[in-house]
Amino acid sequence: MDTVETASDLRTRVAKWRREGARIGFVPTMGNLHNGHFSLVTLCREKTDRVVASVFVNPTQFGPNEDFARYPRTLGKDQEGLASHGCDVLFAPGIEEMYPFGIDAAVRIEVPKIGESLEGAMRPGHFAGVATVVTKLLNLVQPDVAVFGRKDYQQLLVIERLVRDLCLPVDIIGAPTQREADGLAMSSRNQYLSVEERGKAGTIHATLRAMRDALLVGEPLEKIESLACRRLVEAGFVPDYAVLRKREDLGEPSRTSRDGLIALIACRLGKTRLIDNLLL
Ligand code: PAJ
Repeated sequence: MDTVETASDLRTRVAKWRREGARIGFVPTMGNLHNGHFSLVTLCREKTDRVVASVFVNPTQFGPNEDFARYPRTLGKDQEGLASHGCDVLFAPGIEEMYPFGIDAAVRIEVPKIGESLEGAMRPGHFAGVATVVTKLLNLVQPDVAVFGRKDYQQLLVIERLVRDLCLPVDIIGAPTQREADGLAMSSRNQYLSVEERGKAGTIHATLRAMRDALLVGEPLEKIESLACRRLVEAGFVPDYAVLRKREDLGEPSRTSRDGLIALIACRLGKTRLIDNLLL
């Protein structure tokens, strides 16, 4: 596997594959890769002839009080893992390559409505940063297929929306969430947890499953949400939300709806913010 740092090197590689008639897949990441990320590469490999991954810690999607500076950067290990999972080229650009006019002057892609609730409300500007960098990356790689994790469900919806609305010629694939043995969704942020916090972190997935069970036995939606919040608080979390939403657009479901829902949780445990969801 080769690593390229510039857009022109990347384009040269991809253009050659295109001339050969290869189907090209793309997996964007911020690095510090774990088996969740590698599962996307494996899925992408199954659907395409060539796989490009990117590692870029995108400054525009972090808020001023978030962990951009301390986000773990582990390029050497990431390269090894990507190579062993069948990635052909890693694109690992510097900030100037992605934002040649600087961050403040960069053209920005906003995705209204679907990007405004939940994570969009808790992290102002976050999805504009994601949408902007993903649009740039898709334009650089011009893949046939790009794979994103359902772990970041709202992000997946934002990207599906931007691809359709901007008529980008790429198929977006959502991949299942990879979990630790206790149900905790794999995440680069899990390593911020202390041993004690890590011991509790499985409660998030357990709470999502309890929300699903309560839905199945016909509990009212508001009661399911408030019990989930209480369970998280009692286990020592500070919940940002624990909600049931329509899975197609994350809109509020009607009181009686039982189909097509998703449970989503975001909460803080100590200094670490974790998110997870479960399709119901
Ligand atoms: P990052 O957090 O590195 O995640 C990269 C991709 O891996 C995303 O599509 C994410 O949903 C997926 N992923 C993370 N944990 C996963 C898990 N446990 N199981 C399955 N998939 C998982 O998401 C981003 O980076 C950025 O916002 C990015 C899209 C790269 C734009 O900067």
